[in-house]
Amino acid sequence: MNPASESAGPRVASPLNRDVPVAAAGEFSPLRLGEGRVGAAGELSVWPPVILAPMAGVTNLAFRSLCREYGAGLYVSEMITARGYLMGNRLTALLASSSPDEKPRSVQVYGADPVDLGEMVRSLVDEGVDHLDINMGCPVPKVTRAGGGSAIPCKPRLLARLVRAMVQNAGDVPVTVKMRKGIHDRLLTFEEAGRAAEGEGASAVGLHARTAAELYSGEADWDAIGRLVEVLDVPVLGNGDIWESFDALRMMRSTGCAGVIVGRGCLGRPWLFGELAEVFDGREPGRPPSFGEIVEIMMDHGQRLVELFGETVGVRQMRKWTAWYTKGFRGSASVRGRLMRIESLQDIRTIVADLDPEEAFPVTALRAMRAKGSKVQTVKLPEGYLDELDDDTPPKGPRTLEEIEAWEKALNGG
Ligand SMILES: Cc1cc2nc3c(=O)[nH]c(=O)nc-3n(C[C@H](O)[C@H](O)[C@H](O)COP(=O)(O)O)c2cc1C
Repeated sequence: MNPASESAGPRVASPLNRDVPVAAAGEFSPLRLGEGRVGAAGELSVWPPVILAPMAGVTNLAFRSLCREYGAGLYVSEMITARGYLMGNRLTALLASSSPDEKPRSVQVYGADPVDLGEMVRSLVDEGVDHLDINMGCPVPKVTRAGGGSAIPCKPRLLARLVRAMVQNAGDVPVTVKMRKGIHDRLLTFEEAGRAAEGEGASAVGLHARTAAELYSGEADWDAIGRLVEVLDVPVLGNGDIWESFDALRMMRSTGCAGVIVGRGCLGRPWLFGELAEVFDGREPGRPPSFGEIVEIMMDHGQRLVELFGETVGVRQMRKWTAWYTKGFRGSASVRGRLMRIESLQDIRTIVADLDPEEAFPVTALRAMRAKGSKVQTVKLPEGYLDELDDDTPPKGPRTLEEIEAWEKALNGG
């Protein structure tokens, strides 16, 4: 199924990666989560050391299962709000759902109340989850204005309290923390927050090497990942701007991080995980799929979304994916408007019928922005939030079902 494994001509890579060597034998080790922890019978070994980033509206079971067919690694769910999960919200349950063959199963939780987090973790562990991550990087104003998401690492004692609640209830299951560099360039929190997480038994710390103010703009600051590696004993997971498999090797070589988290680069490119598996195993990746092959992958993805969400919601979800899958192909811009209005999966085939199925994957599309754009923001924090950095009082989150639904809408992107 993976066209990338067929023998190929010259490397399809941006100039940045044309001469980067594939991994040498023994150069990298599997990522070990939970290693050496007291009672860590559930130690998780991940090879290649590659993690699908939690992405709201993206990393549901449908996409995770598709990615998994290309390569091994750890495939994390989108963030699941603790309150929604505990109240049995139907959509939250669907987003948290897995299948018996999804091994290891990994869930990212979002919450800021230690009691809720503890209860949620116990329940997920009972369901058989193998890895838990907590989102402390969400930059959405509705969340930070209440002191949640990327505001939490400003307060190391609060962060510690939340991580402790998870670790104490997770038994053998490794708990990791995902954060950003800080609020903005003059308020960097990742070193102290990383130490606090490690001190409470986090098995690894993931760093999206941007501040909350930067959102997704500019280039991720890989030097910050290197600094965190120096500061912590637990593995550091580097995140930001892995668009090509060779970026992962470059990030690991230049920062010493133990694993990489891949976000936007795999949107509409699930085969990236196949390419990552190959370069980490010391093989040259083959050519990416042609347009015709990508249409088949799109249909497969659509089918999986329909199975998970039902016909109407599944097709609606597929609309944004069609833009990512077709990005950069000749003539795709002129059909994008129609793709955004598809009413059935079959519409996709009809709409792209005039495009050339033989067209090779455009090199220009490798690093093309997928989702989010280049906006920046002034981060909203609660009044006086930075006056009490030692305070560990949990911020107020949504309680009623209505509030939870409003939050889940706003949370579309941490
Ligand atoms: C559509 C979208 C949704 C996201 N949702 C989440 C989320 O639920 N939890 C989270 O921790 N980060 C979330 N993120 C951030 C990513 O996990 C990742 O940190 C970020 O995209 C940087 O990695 P990249 O440069 O490889 O894209 C989201 C990003 C995108 C693009």
